[in-house]
Amino acid sequence: MIGVFDSGFGGLTVHRALIEALPERDFVYLGDNRNAPYGARPPIDVLNLTCAALERLFAEGCTLAIVACNTASVVALRWIQQQWLPARRHDDGVARNAIGIVIPTIEAVTGIGWQEGGSAVQETKRSSTIAVFATRRTVQTGCYPIEIRKRRPDITVVQQACPELAGSIERGVPRREIRELVEQYVGELLNRIDTTPDSVILGCTHYPLVADLFAAALPRGVRIIHQPEATARALKLYLDRHPEYDAGNAGRRIFLSTGFSHEALPLIEKFWGDKLPFLDA
Ligand code: DGL
Repeated sequence: MIGVFDSGFGGLTVHRALIEALPERDFVYLGDNRNAPYGARPPIDVLNLTCAALERLFAEGCTLAIVACNTASVVALRWIQQQWLPARRHDDGVARNAIGIVIPTIEAVTGIGWQEGGSAVQETKRSSTIAVFATRRTVQTGCYPIEIRKRRPDITVVQQACPELAGSIERGVPRREIRELVEQYVGELLNRIDTTPDSVILGCTHYPLVADLFAAALPRGVRIIHQPEATARALKLYLDRHPEYDAGNAGRRIFLSTGFSHEALPLIEKFWGDKLPFLDA
């Protein structure tokens, strides 16, 4: 069973791509709606909430969990992978792991994947400026620029926090207002740089829903990296390399929420395209 975790329902954009890529695998989704949004929370909260969510997914029988939230991935995942999971492993001897959505996105934008080299780098030599749009917390961590420069020090990375965007999408504010917000954030970024970005990372689970508005606001020809698809590709490769994680093969689907309310049904439909049977976590 593969666990997929997000602060709320936004991670359904990632979850859908994972299921489409691996339809025979068993998946359980967990949205921490009671504590969402994570984007403005202190890092220690994000860390504790992410650990609690992973515990819940492991209790459900997952051995591998995807942290499908950018904020949780950039704030908590490194410590979880390096400290928390290894310590936990000693308790019962079972290998469990958590992987995020930032590194797959960076691999997609730089063309440099796990243990890859030469030819992929050549292919993306064109990409010399990458723009990252994300929540305030994700931008503050600097995780995207740091990880991109580890692979491609020649690349310039510019970031733009979009503090109002995820919340506005969730609240279902009119599309005209969302367009104005996107134009405002894109405008702020373009005003700070004297070149046009080659590629853009939409580094928040909610932004795929407004990718068309970003494409319209950005100069023509800018490549937008699709985080859900990049994560799905990375997960497939990861499972090939790590058969020790039992991902199941019965096509099971479970949807859990820490704070489900029927008022959220339109929002779920927005992220998923259909109604979903959420259970209390
Ligand atoms: N899921 C979060 C992310 O990708 C966005 C919503 C939130 O702030 O919790 O950063």
